[in-house]
Amino acid sequence: MSPIDALLSRVSMPKVSAPGLTEPELMTLIKAGLRACDHGRLRPFRFILLEGDARIRLGEAMSDYLHGDLVDVSEAAIEAAKNKALRAPTLLSVIFSPKDNDKIPESEQLVSAGCAAQMIVTAAHLMGLGAMWRTGNVAYSGEVSQVLGLEEHEQVVAMIYLGRPAIETPKPPELDPLAFLTRL
Ligand SMILES: Cc1cc2nc3c(=O)[nH]c(=O)nc-3n(C[C@H](O)[C@H](O)[C@H](O)COP(=O)(O)O)c2cc1C
Repeated sequence: MSPIDALLSRVSMPKVSAPGLTEPELMTLIKAGLRACDHGRLRPFRFILLEGDARIRLGEAMSDYLHGDLVDVSEAAIEAAKNKALRAPTLLSVIFSPKDNDKIPESEQLVSAGCAAQMIVTAAHLMGLGAMWRTGNVAYSGEVSQVLGLEEHEQVVAMIYLGRPAIETPKPPELDPLAFLTRL
């Protein structure tokens, strides 16, 4: 498959299984993240790896958040949250870590962090790995920030669930590029 066809075939893989990423695979993904477009090359992001028991601690934090949430959440949902972090052998968290800069606003830096996450899921797909970018309100919660050891100014951009594809690769939707294009 040509590189461009491989790129155009990128899809999320909702079900992944062990084994988790090898060290060379992980390093390649991080290198891909570091090739994100990034105004001023400020690198306003960093990555946190969660494997093994770290995922259990994350699941407990997610469950604690739901417990303390003002929204009415069932006990079953709270229990299920504990297992959510165990859906993949490797979790790679992309953290927005803005830098002080007079010329480059935080909004642009946040986009760069998102680009880093996109580069990672795209690279994972090209490497035959399964990857899915997940977040939700729980990912931005104080409980999760604490487990990740985030500083006050930092925030989760992506929690990328990684592993070996466990189901047939979904077919991406066929979209008409012209429907998204305005010519002036
Ligand atoms: C910032 C961001 C957060 C996301 N959070 C979630 C999430 O919490 N749960 C989820 O099912 N999908 C989430 N997604 C979307 C999936 O990663 C995926 O892109 C979407 O299901 C479309 O599938 P595709 O990537 O195969 O086109 C998120 C995407 C982005 C960009």
